[in-house]
Amino acid sequence: MRERFQQLQTAYEAAGQEQVFAFWKKLTPTQRDGLIEDAAAVDLKELGRLWAQYSKGSQAAVGDMNALMPAPFEPVSQNGGDPKRWAQAERVGKEAISQGRVACFTVAGGQGTRLGYDGPKGAFPCTVLRKKSLFEIFAEKIRAARMRYGAAIPWFIMTSRHNHDQTLAFFREHKFFGLGELNVHFFSQGLMPVVDFNGKILLESPDRIALSPDGHGGSLRAMVRSGAIDKMKEMGVDLLSYFQVDNPLIHCVDPAFVGWHLLGNSQFSSKALVKTDPLEKVGAFCMQNGKMSVIEYSDLSDELAQKRGADGKLEFAAGSIAIHIINRELIESLGGAGAQTLPFHFAKKKAEFVGKDGELVFPKEPNAVKFEMFVFDAIGEAKNPIVIETVREEEFSPIKNAQGVDSPQSSLRDQQRQAARWLIAAGCDVPVDKEGVPLHPIEISPLFADSAEALLEKKDMLQHLDFSKPLYLGK
Ligand code: UTP
Repeated sequence: MRERFQQLQTAYEAAGQEQVFAFWKKLTPTQRDGLIEDAAAVDLKELGRLWAQYSKGSQAAVGDMNALMPAPFEPVSQNGGDPKRWAQAERVGKEAISQGRVACFTVAGGQGTRLGYDGPKGAFPCTVLRKKSLFEIFAEKIRAARMRYGAAIPWFIMTSRHNHDQTLAFFREHKFFGLGELNVHFFSQGLMPVVDFNGKILLESPDRIALSPDGHGGSLRAMVRSGAIDKMKEMGVDLLSYFQVDNPLIHCVDPAFVGWHLLGNSQFSSKALVKTDPLEKVGAFCMQNGKMSVIEYSDLSDELAQKRGADGKLEFAAGSIAIHIINRELIESLGGAGAQTLPFHFAKKKAEFVGKDGELVFPKEPNAVKFEMFVFDAIGEAKNPIVIETVREEEFSPIKNAQGVDSPQSSLRDQQRQAARWLIAAGCDVPVDKEGVPLHPIEISPLFADSAEALLEKKDMLQHLDFSKPLYLGK
């Protein structure tokens, strides 16, 4: 250990980061092991390069706003899309799913600070009656798809150091939600040191470096580093259905989306919402110098965000909601050792740290810089990226904040509105309020029906339901 410590100490001194070992003499042997483990995991060269970039202020990579154009996207049939092409995409997608080419992939390594839930966000109870967790909802959707397509549909889940063990324990406790332990694959994402405004690495305790997850874009290199990508190859999976951990309305396995991706010979496809409010906080799909990208809402000028065409519609209307199909080969090339990785973004955040006296400091203002990669930056590197529209009320109601917009309450209302819509479309007389929310709570398990069409197939079973009290439709 002594030798390892000396090597690291020398490297950290050379990088101007010797403060990391400030409490070394006071640490127990176990604590020293922990600090060595953290210190060895930091890529000091990468950090030095990033800090130089940050200090030069070269983050704003948006470039010339005048060169930004809205990216083209395929509208859904009800908004003018070609129903024949949507039907063709669905056929092609179904075939690929049935052949076992598609796996699900959930990024669940975030810290979920806005929600403030004590546990992995995927364990958050999000349904109205059974209080099922987000993970359980996704698992049921995957099980429903498995039955429909007769394919294994493995599920990959990216965690992070702060929630990996808890996530695994949660799945074990719930017996992998009936998916079978061997069909769910976990790997932990990379970490980046948190630095102060002078570029100095912070300690979260005298024996641990403050490390934070390297962003959802870190998933590409984490898949390669962890060997997840090799597993996919062995299984014959070449397409990943990528989604975030916070959206219970997600279509985990969407044949039409897979089909559009394949028909477009795309390496990275995305779903978009058509924004009605120009200031909605989602990134915009844009074209710049012939390449597609997502420009964050904070980087898009108000003028462009509000720009409308002759038809009165917003020009930069296609909003990114982090739902993608990604080719395995793109991940191999972007996330592979020595290969070009995605760019890092810098964010000023509040981070607790150990002061010179060894005591923990809780800052009231941002005091630190965190480094993150964003998965949508892969779009610019992908061949033939395409964007298709999805219907907001059918697929997007994330749980991000503790209250208000995108909160557990707003998501519950959206889930219930969806249940009522599906039942009404299947001929049921569901009493709803003026916003379409049923007067008595309704929860439909994805194992009972995972779409309006699937519910319609069960029409006969719905005739005698009593909507005057809470109603759970399950398997
Ligand atoms: P968010 O941007 O909502 O971040 O992540 P967050 O960390 O979960 O939440 P806040 O901002 O602290 O409240 C979007 C998705 O990307 C995943 C999250 O788990 C979520 O599914 N993510 C984010 C990662 O997997 N790793 C990261 O480093 C960051």
